[in-house]
Amino acid sequence: MTTDIVILAAGQGTRMKSALPKVLHKLGGKPLLQHVVDSARTIADAKITVVAGHGMEQVAEAIYGEDISYIEQAQQLGTGHAVAQAVPQLRDGGKTLVLYGDVPLIQPQTLTALLEAAGENSLGLLTVNLENPTGYGRIIRNADGHATAIVEQKDANEAQQKITEVNTGVLAVATEQLKQWLPKIGNDNAQGEYYLTDLIAIAYSAGVAIETRQPVCPEEVQGINDRIQLAALERYLQQSRAVDLMRQGITLADPGRFDCRGTLRVGSDSFIDINCLFEGEVELGSNVVIGANCVIKDSRIADNVEIKPNSILEQAIVGEGAVIGPFARLRPGTELAANTKVGNFVETKKALVGEGSKINHLSYVGDAILGRDVNVGAGTITCNYDGVNKHLTEINDGAFIGSNTALIAPVKVGKGATVGAGSAISKNVADSELALTRATQVALKDWPRPKKTEK
Ligand code: UD1
Ligand code: CA
Repeated sequence: MTTDIVILAAGQGTRMKSALPKVLHKLGGKPLLQHVVDSARTIADAKITVVAGHGMEQVAEAIYGEDISYIEQAQQLGTGHAVAQAVPQLRDGGKTLVLYGDVPLIQPQTLTALLEAAGENSLGLLTVNLENPTGYGRIIRNADGHATAIVEQKDANEAQQKITEVNTGVLAVATEQLKQWLPKIGNDNAQGEYYLTDLIAIAYSAGVAIETRQPVCPEEVQGINDRIQLAALERYLQQSRAVDLMRQGITLADPGRFDCRGTLRVGSDSFIDINCLFEGEVELGSNVVIGANCVIKDSRIADNVEIKPNSILEQAIVGEGAVIGPFARLRPGTELAANTKVGNFVETKKALVGEGSKINHLSYVGDAILGRDVNVGAGTITCNYDGVNKHLTEINDGAFIGSNTALIAPVKVGKGATVGAGSAISKNVADSELALTRATQVALKDWPRPKKTEK
């Protein structure tokens, strides 16, 4: 049987006070709508249609997935009207699941349960009990306990307002029935809108049972209307990611000061200190120690690595036993072999650093290939850019680069070669050679220092 998934995302999102369409605001580093799309994708062979309003092109561009159809709802006349815009996309003979683009944490198992609840004689409706139901549509049940209707907050009488079981908006229904019933929805209500929620009473009077299902937790159906709710749900998401990691054997110095905006795969027995941020796809081996305030993006860190505080890594690969930081910056294309050291105030970019090599202090190493056991002294700069092109610096096994050296690329330093401190190296250095460009030191005996002139 076919499944069509309609995601409503046309709302203006006025309360976000933003030029960005609401559903593109990010939760855990990913647009709200992308969360919903990713969940929807877990349903086999589902066809996804997004009903968007203003900024539809921007939304379509930002969301990953070429097979998604975007339908414009030019005027927001209500949730029922929004679903009606998607009707031409819906395939006969199957079921339709309605989701909201601003309810990001909806879980795959909940979708499956709702789809299972829907059939020819039943409609699946996701409801939740809230301590404070203000603002939500209330679930009306008859004396037998069967759900018969939804009454919106603004249309509810005093008794109905006391009902704590509310509509999440998420429902599953046989597509043919949906197509029959949508035209029956009117807009004679407090907001003058076409309410999708009227479907429940229509279904009930057609003799179709309303099968209610509940989410795993209330956060799953939490909608985002403003930045305060966004921040609260972000904390919830981060807390649950932190708990997951701790269950996998990672120690977090403080789960309340941990952020992952992407996916973090981990080995075991690693330690993450406070205020670390992981973005994109990050992989950590086992026994990794990450100091406070590190930002690690799209990187792979092997076992037994230590990253000291305040280090920033992006698209870096770090080999076993390497020690990084504090205050190191590994930029894209950095690949450190096992047991390397990159110390404080060192910046690397497109740099392959061989096993056991050290760049311990205050250096820039970019567009460079370093062999094994190379020692790069403090203040060494690979001058990789001539103002137009980037050039390569090659430093071979066992070479020693004295402090404050400028390596003017393209340039090669041979195996076991030594470069004297303070040199500006623009010609290749042969294996085992000593190269230095230092000016000869002058010695003037008993030199009188200048004296302050009297005014
Ligand atoms: C809706 C439900 C309410 C439920 C609540 C749960 C209706 C009438 N009411 O109320 O029962 O408790 O959600 O959060 O359905 N949208 C469109 N086009 C429109 C109107 C809305 O795409 O013309 C989209 C919005 O972008 C949003 C969703 O539909 O993603 C819900 O719309 P919203 O106006 O927020 O509905 P609520 O008043 O919150
Ligand atoms: Ca809402």
